[in-house]
Amino acid sequence: KELTYSDAIQKAGSSMFRFPLISVKGIPLMNHIANNFDAVSAFCPDPSDILIATYPKAGTTWTQEIVDLLLHNGDAEACRRAPTPVRSPFLEICSPPPIPSGLLEKMAPPRIIKTHLPIQLVPTGFWEKKCKTIYVARNAKDNTVSYYHFGRMNMTQPEPGPWEDYVQKFMRGEMPWGSWYDHVKGYWQEREKRNILYIFYEDMKEDPRREVERIMKYMDLSLSDDVVGSIVELTTFKNMKENPMANYTCIPENVFDQSISSFMRKGEVGDWKNHFTPEQSAEFDEDYEKKMKQVNIPFRTQF
Ligand code: A3P
Repeated sequence: KELTYSDAIQKAGSSMFRFPLISVKGIPLMNHIANNFDAVSAFCPDPSDILIATYPKAGTTWTQEIVDLLLHNGDAEACRRAPTPVRSPFLEICSPPPIPSGLLEKMAPPRIIKTHLPIQLVPTGFWEKKCKTIYVARNAKDNTVSYYHFGRMNMTQPEPGPWEDYVQKFMRGEMPWGSWYDHVKGYWQEREKRNILYIFYEDMKEDPRREVERIMKYMDLSLSDDVVGSIVELTTFKNMKENPMANYTCIPENVFDQSISSFMRKGEVGDWKNHFTPEQSAEFDEDYEKKMKQVNIPFRTQF
């Protein structure tokens, strides 16, 4: 029997453990995900389910909170019923305690399902059932920085190593869930055909109300201005950081060591300027240009 995520975490106890990456159809995934991948691919969603797809660290949790609040008419108490990964399960990870196994299957639709899978690995049921899909993209440099700090505190992912090496690995796509470049391009190219709402972290920061309203319309909901206003307020970085049901303090410390780096770390646009040297930035830009030139995705604040 393969070791599951929960088994491995329980076995590891307080000691550190970091899962190696295994390629699934060319995409590096942690081995516990790769070992369970046939079951993930066979997942059969309900047409009412909502998929939130992102490259890791692009604003998944923020969007999950907004969507949950929209589905609950802005009811803050209802959205404090359980921590994020229980309210909105992670498709490809059978998460550690306190998250019950088989959670997704046991929940009644409509479910808010999170995935980091690149579009070609998303179970085909989501497209056959025409599930609503929200894709959140974040500019590459801030995404690199956020993923680096997450790798330091998330003991289930490979060690990020020194920053200068990490930037190179990011450019090569040697990351859990693969290449950022392929990920953002894959969903972008399919967004019209598959009715995907493609939004940007930077737009959410610039005008959260506008973006909450976009998501609301996409979900075919029409909430009052007051309710939209309170959703915007409940999902500020500060409020989510203080909300124990949204800040991932539910995950045991031996899995997410928030003394190394908080899950709700900075929540800003442009923190890359505090990390990239001018040389790293120039090399990154040149490489970015080559990889992204054939697809004109309107990322802002990249350079
Ligand atoms: P930083 O590491 O730059 O702070 P994900 O949920 O996809 O894992 O993304 C996590 C990133 O989104 C972190 O970025 C986190 O701080 C940021 N984030 C989470 N909630 C946010 C919010 N309400 N407003 C702005 N940023 C938020």
